[in-house]
Amino acid sequence: MVRNTLNDLSGREWLFFTNTVWETNAPPDRTHAFRKCHGAIKPPAAMAELVRFFTRRGERVLDPFAGVGGILLGAELEDRRSVGVEIDARWVDVFNRLRRQFGVRDGMFVARDEFDGAGCRPIGAEMVCASCLEYMAAQEAESFDAVITDPPYGVQHKPKGFAAETNFAMSSGDARDFANAATFDDYLVLMREFGEQARRLLRPGRYLVILIGDRYHQGEYLPLGVKVAEAVRPAGFEWKGLKVWWNKATLRPFRPYAVGSCFVPNITHQNVVILRRK
Ligand SMILES: C[S@@+](CC[C@H](N)C(=O)[O-])C[C@H]1O[C@@H](n2cnc3c(N)ncnc32)[C@H](O)[C@@H]1O
Repeated sequence: MVRNTLNDLSGREWLFFTNTVWETNAPPDRTHAFRKCHGAIKPPAAMAELVRFFTRRGERVLDPFAGVGGILLGAELEDRRSVGVEIDARWVDVFNRLRRQFGVRDGMFVARDEFDGAGCRPIGAEMVCASCLEYMAAQEAESFDAVITDPPYGVQHKPKGFAAETNFAMSSGDARDFANAATFDDYLVLMREFGEQARRLLRPGRYLVILIGDRYHQGEYLPLGVKVAEAVRPAGFEWKGLKVWWNKATLRPFRPYAVGSCFVPNITHQNVVILRRK
């Protein structure tokens, strides 16, 4: 039997995670009301599953597109150290307020004042307000055990004359925000630069995990998960797999796009792109 140096899972738990279809239905936790002002939050309990597979207890996780910290909170639940980078000061502020108010007790988030500190561990995750490319370039090589992240899903501005897309739009006013790239090709160039930095910061053999939705753009399906994986891979990664994630908790009524006229998808899944540093 090979010695498992990647995570603390049993063989059975490892095998279960290798399913390429991933269904979650995590109920909102105590921090949800704080975080929901950000339009693209990820459930910490589900993010904890990714963190649990790609790291060991005590290891260091980077989320360069941290939003209000869904992945950092997942890392927190699993006793990992984590750093998030977020360009928009509004989201950094939300996370820092949340951090002061909540702690971890029995593997759950609880309000710190309800427990008066007793048996309640403070949230240790660190959040930095910066553009991730600049932050990452300034960090020491091989200083992270995993990069797990949820970047903007392509560019968010709508070209004149085209109908709204199936996914919602959201971006900051900062020109360095990846969602503000002029074109999809420019966005993919930024993702390639991001991949180069991620490779430099990861220890050899460790993983870059990217949550990314596909889109329906200018009348055609845009397989963004595949395109992002292909943009990042040449930076020095093996593309190991893709999990199709269905988070049932966020299922909304379907929109009646082109019913009776032409097939237009209601995109309900997201991709989990799994790349291993060479
Ligand atoms: C899909 S959201 C992440 C949401 C996050 N997973 C959560 O649970 O809150 C992507 C985030 O990336 C941020 N972002 C975009 N470009 C960035 C950049 N260059 N550096 C750092 N953050 C960036 C956006 O402001 C946005 O909050």
